[in-house]
Amino acid sequence: MKKVLSVNFVKLSSKPKFARTIRSFVRRSGRITEAQKHAWEKHWVPYGIESGAEILDLSVLFENKNQRFVLEIGFGNGENLIDCAKNDPHSNFAGIEVYHSGIGQCLIDANKYSLKNLRLFCDDAVDVLNKQIANESFDMINIFFPDPWPKKRHHKRRLITKDFISLIESKLKPNAIVHICTDWDDYAFNIKTLFNSMEEFKSLEKLPRRLQTKFEKKGLALGHSIHEFAFQLLRY
Ligand SMILES: C[S@@+](CC[C@H](N)C(=O)[O-])C[C@H]1O[C@@H](n2cnc3c(N)ncnc32)[C@H](O)[C@@H]1O
Repeated sequence: MKKVLSVNFVKLSSKPKFARTIRSFVRRSGRITEAQKHAWEKHWVPYGIESGAEILDLSVLFENKNQRFVLEIGFGNGENLIDCAKNDPHSNFAGIEVYHSGIGQCLIDANKYSLKNLRLFCDDAVDVLNKQIANESFDMINIFFPDPWPKKRHHKRRLITKDFISLIESKLKPNAIVHICTDWDDYAFNIKTLFNSMEEFKSLEKLPRRLQTKFEKKGLALGHSIHEFAFQLLRY
C-alpha cells in the first residue's frame, strides 16, 4: 500500500538506544474504509515518510523552514495531530502510527485542510526513533492514551518503559517537553514514577493545550479518570 517517496538523507551516526523485541501493538488488519484506502493511494505521497535505516534531515522534509518540530506517537485517527498542524502553521508536525485505517483517516484530513506542515510515518515508533531520527530533534513529543495492556501478564508490552523514556529523551532538544495522558491508574502511576526517578526531567504544572481524543472519550465513557503529565527535559 505504501509508495516510495524520495527524500534527502543526512548521515549522522546514531547507535540504536535499545532494541525492543516485544512490540507495544498488535497490527490490526481491521476495517479500512474505501475513503481511507483512497487517501492512502492519493495522499501517502506527499505526507508519508518511508521506513528506512538512514537518519533523516527534518529541515529538508518540511517545506516550512521554521525549526520547531513536534512529534505525536500513536496518533490513532490523528484528530489532535491535525488540529495542532492546522492551528500552528509555523511549526512542523510529525506523527508515527502503525494502524492503517487511522493513518488513512489522518491523510483524508491532512488533504482536506491542505496541510503543508505535517509528515507521517507508518512504523513502530521505536524503530523510527532509533533508525531515522537524529538526536535532539524535537521541541515536543506527545503520547496520548498509549495502549494500556491492562492484564498484568501483558504489562511488558506497554510502550512507556524506562528504556523508551531514555530513547525519547535522546530525541528531545534541551528544554523540550513530553506530554502524556492515560486513563489507566496503574499505568499513570508507573509513568509518573519513571519520570520522577530521572533527574533530567522536571514535572510541569501547566499542561500544553491538546484536543480530546477518541480513546480519551472511550475512557471517560467507562468512568475512568484522565491522568495527564508534562515533563520538561533539563538539558542545557
Ligand atoms: C489506545 S490508541 C490511542 C490513539 C490516540 N492517541 C487516541 O488517544 O485516540 C494507541 C495507539 O498507539 C499506536 N501504537 C502503539 N504502539 C505503537 C508503536 N510502537 N509505534 C507506533 N504506534 C503505536 C496504536 O496503533 C494505537 O493506534
